[in-house]
Amino acid sequence: MGSEKIQAAIIGSGNIGTDLMFKIMKNSQYLSMGAMIGIDPASDGLARAARLGVPVSAEGIDGLLALPHFQDIKIVFDATSAKSHLVHNEKLQPFGIKVIDLTPAAIGPYVVPSINLEQESNAANINMVTCGGQATIPIVNAVAQVTDVYYAEIVASIASKSAGPGTRANIDEFTETTSAAIVNVGKARAGKAIIILNPASAPFMIYTPPMMQAHAWYVSPPTAPKQIFHGNILNSRATSVWTPSVF
Ligand SMILES: NC(=O)c1ccc[n+]([C@@H]2O[C@H](COP(=O)([O-])OP(=O)(O)OC[C@H]3O[C@@H](n4cnc5c(N)ncnc54)[C@H](O)[C@@H]3O)[C@@H](O)[C@H]2O)c1
Repeated sequence: MGSEKIQAAIIGSGNIGTDLMFKIMKNSQYLSMGAMIGIDPASDGLARAARLGVPVSAEGIDGLLALPHFQDIKIVFDATSAKSHLVHNEKLQPFGIKVIDLTPAAIGPYVVPSINLEQESNAANINMVTCGGQATIPIVNAVAQVTDVYYAEIVASIASKSAGPGTRANIDEFTETTSAAIVNVGKARAGKAIIILNPASAPFMIYTPPMMQAHAWYVSPPTAPKQIFHGNILNSRATSVWTPSVF
């Protein structure tokens, strides 16, 4: 690979999209910010992107497609909502763009980078499951490698302040997609996910938004129906596994 960075666009200028923009700009060896796309011209995320010199559009996916340098954008991260992602993915695929889905739309193969990124890296749509899934499924999978995991359950407690309208619009998709990934990628025989929006003020143990806390997590193999493995995963940061440095 040459020294030129790959241009990435982010659709969704809310909590997750803005956080990701800063991560790309501060930390990525391989990516640069090609565009920040929203639908709300008054969005704080769009204003911050513009101040940093990132090309912006408040015209949604059509605004992205209309950018004069659109053909230079090779990766698009979608941080909107599951419903919007269905439309965005359909419009982007004809251009051969790599689409990284941060919503729980679950179009592409379920990807938990520490488990199966290499196996799925050629997929046109990378389905990043959910924040709760990324924080917990590696542990389910690790246990599944040494014993039969009969059932795995996660309870993701997310600081209410970190959950924007996009996250709140996706609660059903969050639980369905996380449960499916616990089985598909975690290799548990059955999985369940529950999400709690924790309204505590100040937000509990917040490190950098968004953060999540997953707790009351357990797996129990059929050979030992009583709980044999119990752990608390506190303050797992959803973003820690979403960093674009995996590319
Ligand atoms: N908050 C979390 O902890 C977390 C973690 C990981 C993933 N997610 C997922 O990320 C997504 C965004 O969550 P959020 O908390 O940042 O929500 P948010 O509401 O803060 O951000 C969503 C942004 O997308 C914009 N938007 C909505 N529809 C759009 C469209 N069609 N085109 C362009 N922009 C559009 C909104 O104006 C808003 O700025 C959700 O799907 C959520 O499930 C959230």
